[in-house]
Amino acid sequence: MWTKLKTNILFNKFKYVFKSVRKCRFSTKTKEISFLFKESVNILDKKYVVDEWTNVTPKVVSFVGRNLYLKNGNPLYFLSQGIKNFFKDYDHFVFNDPVVDLKANFDSLLIPEDHVSRQKSDTYYVNKDYVLRSHTSAHQNHCLETKSMAFICIADVYRRDEIDRKHHSVFHQCEGFKLYDNKSPQLIQSGISNIFDNHSTLKTDTKQENHSQEAVRAIESEMKTTIESFIRYLMAEDLPMRWVSAYFPFTHPSWELEIYYNNEWIEILGSGIVEHKLLSNAGYTDKIGWAFGIGLERLAMIRYQIPDIRIFWTNDTGFLCQFENITHLDKIVYKPISSHPQIYFDLSFWLPQDIFWCHNDFYDVVRNIGGDLVEQVKVIDEYTNKKGNTSNTFRIIYRSHERMLTKDECNVLHKKIEQYVTDNWKVIIR
Ligand code: PHE
Repeated sequence: MWTKLKTNILFNKFKYVFKSVRKCRFSTKTKEISFLFKESVNILDKKYVVDEWTNVTPKVVSFVGRNLYLKNGNPLYFLSQGIKNFFKDYDHFVFNDPVVDLKANFDSLLIPEDHVSRQKSDTYYVNKDYVLRSHTSAHQNHCLETKSMAFICIADVYRRDEIDRKHHSVFHQCEGFKLYDNKSPQLIQSGISNIFDNHSTLKTDTKQENHSQEAVRAIESEMKTTIESFIRYLMAEDLPMRWVSAYFPFTHPSWELEIYYNNEWIEILGSGIVEHKLLSNAGYTDKIGWAFGIGLERLAMIRYQIPDIRIFWTNDTGFLCQFENITHLDKIVYKPISSHPQIYFDLSFWLPQDIFWCHNDFYDVVRNIGGDLVEQVKVIDEYTNKKGNTSNTFRIIYRSHERMLTKDECNVLHKKIEQYVTDNWKVIIR
C-alpha cells in the first residue's frame, strides 16, 4: 500500500489509509517539535497545555481559522456552495474549531487503540487529550446528538505530511450522512419491511451481523446513486466513475469512489454503511445509514485546473481576482500566476463632463500599452462631486511571468498610460 502511495502520489494526501500498517516516519523528530511551544499553545483563543504528545507547529496552527471554504472568492468556497446546494434538504453543520478530543476523532468511530492513524507520525496532537481533527468523521457523533437524520458538515482537516504541489498539512473535507428506519419511504417502496434480520447473525463481506441483506442492498444503491449525481453536479461534467471496495473501521461494507481524469483513476471519497455499533452507541438502535467523506481540494483542482494545492492558501490577488464575481455554477479555468512579485501604481483622474466613456475603454488602453506585463486593472474608487465631475481611481498591477520587473520600467509604462488618457480624453490627472 505504501508503495502504491509513493507511485501514485497525485492527491493521495487525501486518503485516510486505514488499512495500511506503515512505519512511523517521524518518530525521531517528534520530541524536538514539541519544543516549539514552551508551556502552552493557543488555538482560536483557547490555551492548551503542551506535553510529550504535542506535535502541532506554529506553522500548522497559523492555518487554523482561515476558513477558506467560507471566503467568497476562494474556489473552495464555490465548491462548498455547490455541496450545500446539492444537499439542501440535509442539515448543515459547521464546526469552526478544529481541536477535538480523542473520543471524537478516534474512539467514537471505533478506531482501535493501535491503529496507524492514531500515531504521532500521522496526526497533529495538541497534547495527549486533543488533536487537530484529521477528518470530518470526527463530527459524526456531534451531529448525531442533534437527532439529525441526514446531514453534511464541511471543515478544514489536518494531517501530517510533506508540503509540495500535491500535499498540504491542511485540507478540506465534507462529511455526508443519512439514516433510515423501517418507516423510511425508500425502504417501503423497495418492499423491505425490516432492516434487521435476527436470523442472520454473521458479518459477511457484503453486510454487518443482524442487518438484512436486502436492506443493505437498497441503502447501498441509494447512497451510490446520490453520490454519483452529486459528483456530476459538483464537477459540472460527466467524468467516468468506479466504486472500489475499501475498509474503514466505522463503516461496513465500505467503498471508495474513483474518477477518471487525465488518464488515471483518482480516488475522491471514502464511504460505506455505518457500523451499527456506532449508531447504537449514539442511541440509535433502530436505524441503518450510510456515510461518506470527500476531499474538496482535489475536486477543485480538477474542476478549475489548479495545479498546486498551496495556491488555495495564497492571498495573491492574481489568483483571487480570477474567482471574483462568479458562482459555483461557473466553469472557470485557472490561469497560472507568475512567481515574480507584483508592482502596482494607482492612477486617479477627473473626466470631462461631455465625454462618453466606460471603464472598458480604460482597460483596453492599459492592455495596449502594458501588454502582458499588466496582470490586473481594477477600479478602486469612483465618485461624482457636487459640480457633476466624476473622479476615477484605477489600480494597475504589473507582473511578468518571465522575470522580476523593476519599479522604473513599470513607471515608464504608467507614464505612457497617463499621457494617453490626458491627450485623448482630456482627463485631469489628480
Ligand atoms: N473519514 C474517512 C477519511 O477521511 C472517509 C470516510 C467518511 C469513509 C465516512 C467512510 C465514511 O478517509
